[in-house]
Amino acid sequence: MTAPQSLWRLTSPPIQTDAQPPANTDVVIAGAGLAGLATGALLARRGQRVAVLEGRDVGAATTGNTTAKLSLLQGSVYSQIQSHAGLEALEAYVAANRAGQDWVRRELAGEHDAIQQVDAVTYAIASEGERAVDQEAEAMAAVGVDVDVLAQGQDAGLPYPVTRALRMHGQSQIHPMRLLAKLAAEIRSHGGTIVTGCRVQGAEVEDGGVVVQTTAGELDAETLVVTTGSPVIDRAAFFARLVPSRSLVAAYRVVGPLPRGVFLSLDPEGRSLRTARGEDGRELLVVGGGAFTTGRERETDRLLRELDDWTGDNFAGAVRVTWWAAQDYRTVSRVPFAGAMPGTNGRIYAATGFDKWGMTNAPAAALTIAGDILREPVPWAEALRSPHLRLVDGVDFVAAQASVAASLVGGVVRTVTGSGDLAEGEGHVVRDGRHPVAEARIDGVVCRVSGVCTHMGGILEWNTAERSWDCPLHGSRFSPDGDVLEGPASVGLERR
Ligand SMILES: Cc1cc2nc3c(=O)[nH]c(=O)nc-3n(C[C@H](O)[C@H](O)[C@H](O)COP(=O)(O)OP(=O)(O)OC[C@H]3O[C@@H](n4cnc5c(N)ncnc54)[C@H](O)[C@@H]3O)c2cc1C
Ligand code: FES
Repeated sequence: MTAPQSLWRLTSPPIQTDAQPPANTDVVIAGAGLAGLATGALLARRGQRVAVLEGRDVGAATTGNTTAKLSLLQGSVYSQIQSHAGLEALEAYVAANRAGQDWVRRELAGEHDAIQQVDAVTYAIASEGERAVDQEAEAMAAVGVDVDVLAQGQDAGLPYPVTRALRMHGQSQIHPMRLLAKLAAEIRSHGGTIVTGCRVQGAEVEDGGVVVQTTAGELDAETLVVTTGSPVIDRAAFFARLVPSRSLVAAYRVVGPLPRGVFLSLDPEGRSLRTARGEDGRELLVVGGGAFTTGRERETDRLLRELDDWTGDNFAGAVRVTWWAAQDYRTVSRVPFAGAMPGTNGRIYAATGFDKWGMTNAPAAALTIAGDILREPVPWAEALRSPHLRLVDGVDFVAAQASVAASLVGGVVRTVTGSGDLAEGEGHVVRDGRHPVAEARIDGVVCRVSGVCTHMGGILEWNTAERSWDCPLHGSRFSPDGDVLEGPASVGLERR
């Protein structure tokens, strides 16, 4: 199986970065995805000294591996927020997402390779999905968001029949690495610094500021903004309230016309569609699906085969050009969080919980955090923060924790039974005395690392398609030789 490589990263413009972080600055931003770079650009333009520290490289985790629809039609998100957090939170969510969408459009104005206007369609082909589409239409009506409800038999723009559909005109699809490249250049043109291969590992709030500990040494700053997906500096136990969901995405060459628009099905076998240009400039069909909770699905290669089969069944002559995968985090209240972390004296901010809709939610979070730091608060900020403080989502919180506990027990049992020879590309966790050891064979060489997640001790699971060690508890991921790939862990696995 080929190694995952997203279309966006294959066709990314070069992104200039800096060799060293400064010894002190106004704002340190951990993570160079969309949330981090949008926050950095907003603050740098207003004269703040900004240093962005990125553990891997720009766009390495979710933003460089997304499907990048810039849309206010967002699957079943509105109905989920309405039922978990209430109407006021949903109204604030819509306002924030409109502002996020407008902001990205302004940033990419005139860049036709980076943004295209399209219609967005949410659809179903069977009864479970139909109910979800109807509920979404009701939630959208409740907050006055216009959407066309298509009758059965009306053309939704797909080569197969659908039984329910919502269509919203005038949405967009973007090239996420082009957006990141533009924001990175903007930060540096205002005197900011972007350092890659530099991991934030700790932070101490002190009088008048924060000391940030990194793999490149310590930095003094007035404020730290943590935009690392699941926050790596976590004074509010966010990790326990976030559910990581990972999906596969693949780009295909197909024979015949491509669907015009961005599409998402709400059926149990959810599929996401858009188009994009490949390395040779030809238009490709991008298909996403196969969602799973990180670390709880070993046979990820089966999910990729299913994506290929589905695409082949629905689009003549489909040939996969490249594939990739990514994860994003959902809060138990379904509402994203952007603001100061409790107990940090307003010195440490975090943005997380975009639930696979970060192209609008990440810039909205950046506007929120920049507004707080500059003392120009945005109107939606408080209504979006309050669901995180209420107990409306208590049942889901308990369910999320019970599922984490079950994985913990399952992981311990698996380590006892794992053994035997490893085929190329395979991995398993075995016991070495009392310690679980994760073994994988890559290019004929067996890599042995600790099988225990450095975040909070979860037993790792092998991800066959991506060849990574994934934690079933809160979604940290590691390379076969133990480097952190993503998630709340900030320290790599010990080599054995
Ligand atoms: C499969 C998939 C499809 C999606 N499709 C869409 C879509 O069509 N439309 C949409 O709106 N949204 C979509 N999303 C969601 C969207 O892509 C994300 O919400 C968004 O990219 C998240 O941006 P971010 O900046 O929070 O995180 P990231 O892009 O993950 O950035 C976080 C960065 O922090 C770095 N980092 C981690 N730990 C450290 C550390 N200790 N020190 C320094 N740096 C660190 C990481 O390497 C990473 O670069 C999708 C998500 C997925 C998973
Ligand atoms: S991610 Fe929390 S224990 Fe592994």
